Amino acid sequence: MEALKKMAGVTAAQYVKDGMTVGLGTGSTAYYFVEEIGRRVKEEGLTIVGVTTSSVTTKQAQGLEIPLKSVDEIDSIDLTVDGADEVDKNFNGIKGGGAALLMEKIVATPTKEYIWVVDESKMVEHLGAFKLPVEVVQYGAERLFRVFEKAGYQPSFRIKNGEKLVTDMQNFIIDLDLKCIENPLEFGRMLDETVGVVEHGLFNGMVDKVIVAGKAGVTVLEAL
Ligand code: 5RP
Repeated sequence: MEALKKMAGVTAAQYVKDGMTVGLGTGSTAYYFVEEIGRRVKEEGLTIVGVTTSSVTTKQAQGLEIPLKSVDEIDSIDLTVDGADEVDKNFNGIKGGGAALLMEKIVATPTKEYIWVVDESKMVEHLGAFKLPVEVVQYGAERLFRVFEKAGYQPSFRIKNGEKLVTDMQNFIIDLDLKCIENPLEFGRMLDETVGVVEHGLFNGMVDKVIVAGKAGVTVLEAL
């Protein structure tokens, strides 16, 4: 599995060219992309500016001496490479397994070319077997949890060290165990309209390319 993740990450790094502003994703697959960018900066003199999607990736990028800018300092990003938890055939996906979905969506939004790197196990017929992460403000989170419970979404707070996990943006994550999301666009819109929800892990139709690493090699899927 690690070899597949590395293959996807290193392949994605080939799309990065001198002078680009590059979104640096989060997670165990995006990790390999960031490592490869770090190698190219050091060994090939690649000149890019990175925009990170989590405190973890910021630390990794700083360790590799990749020049960084905050998302507030840029107007657009040439290319972002990130991981995903599930991807369907319509290029809708679930992200947020690493609790970075809010920063990831903020970086993805001004991105001209958005690429996901996944191993083949992430490609699914229907989204929802992976619990959908929903980032909620702390105030009123317990009440919102009960609303989700009543709606039958089987929510659970994301826990870390015995406490509710607090994201980089100081919010909680509620994971929804939906099993199968029949209509990701409709479900995403419903969450967008729910007060207290800051952002959700449905990234519908945002991605341009999905680099899938499998036992037979790497396939690049392109959105129409
Ligand atoms: C973090 C994410 C990750 O990109 C996603 O969870 C995939 O991670 P991995 O490559 O480790 O499976 O969305 O919030």
